[in-house]
Parts: sequence; C-alpha cells; structure tokens
Amino acid sequence: MNANESRGAWGSRIGFILAAAGSAVGLGNIWGFPMQVGRGGGAAFVLVYLFCVFVICFPIMIAELALGRSSSRSPIEAFAVTKPGTRWWLVGVLGVCAGVGILSFYAVIAGWTIAYIWFTATGAVAGNTEQIGAFFSAFVASGGRNVMMTILVLVTTACILLGGVRKGIERASKVMMPALLFLLIALALRALTLPGATQGLAYYMRPDFSLLANPQVFNAALGQAFFSLSLGMGCMITYGSYLSRKTSIVVSAAWVAGLDTAVALLAGLIIFPAGFSIAGFDPTAGGPGLIFTVLPRLFDTMPGGHLFGAAFFVLLTIAALTSTISLLEVPTAALVDRGWERKKAVLALTALVTVLAIPSVLSQGAVASLSSLPVVNMPFLDLMATVWNNWALPIGGLLIAIFVGWVWGADNAIAELTAEGQTLPGAPLWAFLIKYVCPLAILFIIVMTARGMFAA
Ligand code: PHE
Repeated sequence: MNANESRGAWGSRIGFILAAAGSAVGLGNIWGFPMQVGRGGGAAFVLVYLFCVFVICFPIMIAELALGRSSSRSPIEAFAVTKPGTRWWLVGVLGVCAGVGILSFYAVIAGWTIAYIWFTATGAVAGNTEQIGAFFSAFVASGGRNVMMTILVLVTTACILLGGVRKGIERASKVMMPALLFLLIALALRALTLPGATQGLAYYMRPDFSLLANPQVFNAALGQAFFSLSLGMGCMITYGSYLSRKTSIVVSAAWVAGLDTAVALLAGLIIFPAGFSIAGFDPTAGGPGLIFTVLPRLFDTMPGGHLFGAAFFVLLTIAALTSTISLLEVPTAALVDRGWERKKAVLALTALVTVLAIPSVLSQGAVASLSSLPVVNMPFLDLMATVWNNWALPIGGLLIAIFVGWVWGADNAIAELTAEGQTLPGAPLWAFLIKYVCPLAILFIIVMTARGMFAA
C-alpha cells in the first residue's frame, strides 16, 4: 500500500477537483474580488489580476500540489521531509499562521452571508440605496449578533471537520458548483440589462492604464490572486498530499484555476453593471459592504427577487464553508502530524480563531477604536485581510517557488509531475516560471509596495 492510500486518497480526479475548487471558490471570488476591483479602479486591476493568476499563481499551484503529493505530508512536514536538516519547515509554520489569521476574518464575512439569507428571504433588507446601505451599516455594527454569527460559522466548520461529513460536503459541491455558476450567469444577464449597465461594463472592461503607476494596485491584485486560489499557505500542499499518482496535477490545477477565475469574473459582471445602474454609485467606497448593498438592490429589480436572493446567499454560504474547512484543515493537519489527537486539535484551533475573530467583528462599527486603528488608519478586519492576504500569502508563495524551483529542484518536481507515464508538454516553461519569473515578480511587487509605503 502506498502512502497515499493509507492517508485516504481522493476517490477520483473529479473528486479532487471539486474539493480543491471548493476551497478556492468562496468569499474571495464573490465578496473580495469586486471589492478589490472597486478599490483598484476597475479594468486595469482586472488585467493585473489575470496576469497574477496565470503567470505567477498557476505555476505555484502546480508546485504546491507536486510537493504535497511527493511528500504525502501536511505543509510543515512536507518541507521537513523533502529537505531534512534545514529551516524550510518554517514556511509551513507561516502557512499555518496564515490559515488561522485568514479564518479569523473570513468567518466574520461568512456570518454576514448567513444572516443575509434570512434578510433577503424575509424582505427585511429592502428599499432604496440609502435604506439598504443604512441597514448594512447598522447590522454589522451590532456586536453581539455578529459575534454569534461568527461563532456559528466556526462551530459549523469544526463540526464538519470532526463529524466525518467532509466528504459529503465535498460531494455536495457537485451540485452546488454548477448551481452557483448558473445563478451567477442569470444574475449577470439581469444586471447587464439594467439602465446604466454599459457604464459599469466600461468601468470593468476598459482599462485606465494610468492607474498602473501605483504599486498598491499590483500588491492588492497579487494578494487577491493568492487568496482566491487558496495559495501560499500550504492548503494545496495538504490537498496534494491526498492526491493519487494517477491524477494529472496540471490538468486538475487548470480546472481549479479556471473555475475560480470564471466565478470571480462573473461576480464582477454582476456587481459593476448593477452598481452603476444605481444613481450616485461609487465603486471605490463600497469596501466590505459592496456586495451586501448592491445585490439586494439587484434582487429588488427581479421577479421573485427574494427567492433569488436567498438562494444566492445559501449557495454563497456553502461556498464559504468549503473554504473555511480547508482553512482550518491546514493548522489541524499540522498539529495532528505533531502527535495531537484530531479532535483536540480542531477544538483548540477553533477556540483560538474565535478569540482572534472578535476584534474583527467589533471593528465594523461596534467599537470605535477598532474601527479606525491608529497609524494604519483602517478597521481591524481590513488590517487582518491586508496582513494575511497581501503580505503573508505572497511571501509564502515566493518561498514555495524558491523551495520547489531551487531547493527541492525543478527537475525533481517534474519527475513527480510526470510520474506513472504522465506527459507534461510545457515542462521547460513551467521550470522557467517557477525558478525565475514567479520569485522575481513577487519580490518586485513586494519591494515596490514597501518602498511606496515608506515614501508615503
Ligand atoms: N480561496 C478561498 C476563497 O476565495 C479562501 C481561502 C484562502 C481558502 C486560502 C483557503 C486558503 O474564498
């Protein structure tokens, strides 16, 4: 029996693709992507994002999966067994911290999503733009309710990991993913027929290249790409460790990256046409509330809009949960590999994430000092998102690229990728990207952003 079998491999390629796509597709695509496009000024951001996904992140996704499958270990151990006696395992530790940090703010947004199932179904959120905006602000500012919702998300995630229903959840993705895609397409079609939609479309698709002078745009796009694809923290190392050698890594990775990008692009195709159909819409100002204020207006314009709205938030909640389980799985697997009992690991980590999540919950209006932190001038939740998404994940990705390209060696990785007679037509190109292009591009963006920050 090989190591993969004893660890419980994925049943089939489609099973793996669904689980990995379940991890990738989530709030990052539907909540995060339009928000970042709005902040970054529209189409120019989208172009940089696509460059980051296909040129930087896709090769790193292949690298993470190859490293995971070759070592059959969770991230920290994957580095330790591939290069024993070195400090590279610290990259795994960074990933574990990122998993905890990301989950601590992700659960807050997932809590809002659950609440909005109820609000749209019952018609509680309705009225004109001001009323819907005021409803959102009042809701997120209510600390007690939001702490409860966040705890609900975290406890559900822990139960899924402990209850052995994880496979079931992932199998449910088989239905959920097409349903989500179908609903997104329907919403995009509706949004595109609203008056003012063409203005939104132009904003989304006609780039203003002058915006590219700002290194922040590159940093935000890079961070968003890593976040959306679940990369840079060892999540794909963990998923790759359950992968059988019969499955083509490159084909699977292409599916995951393709699906993830399609969902993000579709979300933008809904939010911007629908947003610009509302008088006085300012995409830059949307922030974390962007989808929660634009979408209820869109549902209002549709026959049966309440039902559409509720169905949408149900699907988004499921998509968020298939991501939260992968976020919690990385630190859990790390503790289990260190000899912890699985149940204890899940419970301890859930408690830790809950404590860390509370300042993020309260930073949305409940506690003034957390809503605008000194020096950084942003709410605690935004600070968490910036630290983990824009810095920790790209730095993790940079180190993974260097490790796979140079330390483990691109040739060894290619041997893993072509195991059991699989072909890898673009092997030299991949080696070139992972050794040179990925590390240099990430380093360049990080250095430019840091310089910009200190110059400011
Ligand atoms: N990719 C997920 C999303 O877009 C979030 C995530 C990030 C999950 C990192 C796992 C690891 O919602």
